Amino acid sequence: MPSPISLSKIEQFNEKEVQIRGWVRRHRSKGKVQFLTIRDGTGELQAILSKATMDEEQFKAASHLTQESSIEVTGRIRADDRAPGGYELDVSHIHILQLAEPFPIQPKEHSVGFLMDHRHLWLRSSRQHAILKIRHEIVKACRDFFDDREFVLVDTPIFTPNACEGTTTLFQTQYFEETAYLAQSGQLYGEAAAAAFGKVYCFGPTFRAEKSKTRRHLMEFWMVEPEVAFAELADVMELAEAFLVMIVQRVLAKRQEELKVLERDVSKLEAITPPFPRVTYREAVARLQKGGSAIQSGDDFGAEDETLLSNEYHKPLIVHRYPAAIKAFYMQSDPQQPDLAMCMDVLAPEGYGEIIGGGQRIHDYQTLLSRLQEHDLSEDAFRWYLDLRRYGSVPHAGFGMGIERAVAWICGLDHVRETIPFPRMLSRLYP
Ligand code: 4AD
Ligand code: MG
Repeated sequence: MPSPISLSKIEQFNEKEVQIRGWVRRHRSKGKVQFLTIRDGTGELQAILSKATMDEEQFKAASHLTQESSIEVTGRIRADDRAPGGYELDVSHIHILQLAEPFPIQPKEHSVGFLMDHRHLWLRSSRQHAILKIRHEIVKACRDFFDDREFVLVDTPIFTPNACEGTTTLFQTQYFEETAYLAQSGQLYGEAAAAAFGKVYCFGPTFRAEKSKTRRHLMEFWMVEPEVAFAELADVMELAEAFLVMIVQRVLAKRQEELKVLERDVSKLEAITPPFPRVTYREAVARLQKGGSAIQSGDDFGAEDETLLSNEYHKPLIVHRYPAAIKAFYMQSDPQQPDLAMCMDVLAPEGYGEIIGGGQRIHDYQTLLSRLQEHDLSEDAFRWYLDLRRYGSVPHAGFGMGIERAVAWICGLDHVRETIPFPRMLSRLYP
């Protein structure tokens, strides 16, 4: 028996005998001929079963095939211009591994709730398949970007004794005799690693108990976070810009087929070139007020404000120097205007809102100590973090990009729930 092949490589096997293992997407019987569309996870192929050339038992068994039944077929590949992928398979043998029960997901309108309840099966649809292939490409592009620039990957812990991004969104858990929190960000550990390796990144799942039911929020999401010693705010703005350009370019270069499945307007992605526009928080507030927003200086942006702001551009917008009061405890103040933080948010175009948050960190021991006290954070839990300011402290900066928000933007999706295989949302822990 020939060894199994992958449908993505079908053109290498023209006129050859092959074995294909996969699932039935569609089945049609026309008396003496049956047509199967087989998917194997890498591609699809039309297979033809003809009564005249096959074992009678096998031909008969195949006539009962249902959508998603698992099969192994052998046969000969034949180029055919009329076939969807340019090839067809003339089946000589078919082995049915399991005859699937009626598949719950049909090509009709299902409610979102129904689809989410069947997420484990929904992943097989061509649209979900395309999204998750693009997610994979983006994850790989993130790694390649940093690996190619001498960043060291440093995995940071998930069980942590302290908060990074505010105490209101912590998931608390028991860690033997102690209380632990699921990591909201790997940043603080990234800072320790940056002092060891210079340029580092961490890339892992992060957790936030956000009581927000929006199209941008997940309770569990993946974040890639570079951290760079001797870097300042301007350096990481440039880094974020180059990073986003590279990721979008990579998806355009490698995932045209998937973008087509999603009917993504690729001209919107082709416009993502440097330089990105940059505005200060103050300028942004002034513009919003001019545009009719009720925002007051000192307020954080709501989703609508972010959309209003980014709608002025066809590229990601970098907003920098927010009021320190609405940002995390670790942010370095602007020496010229101490009430402003040396931070940035990158807002994606087309109303996708913030996809990157980052900036420059406090590197002075006394400043950090008083900031911890102002924020009511336990000095004891942050002893190790304070240590970093005692032994060779240097200016340093970094950022974090939420993978799901980047996927939603690049794929042009309405909601982050489709950007991760099994989303954890405010009211969903199943499947
Ligand atoms: O702006 P955030 O909170 O920044 C940090 O966590 C920093 N410690 C990162 C750093 O400087 N190393 O989160 C960063 C990004 C956001 O811009 C967004 O893309 C994503 O993480 N994010 C979420 N994505 C999905 N669901 C949520 N609940 C998210 N919260 C943040
Ligand atoms: Mg943020």
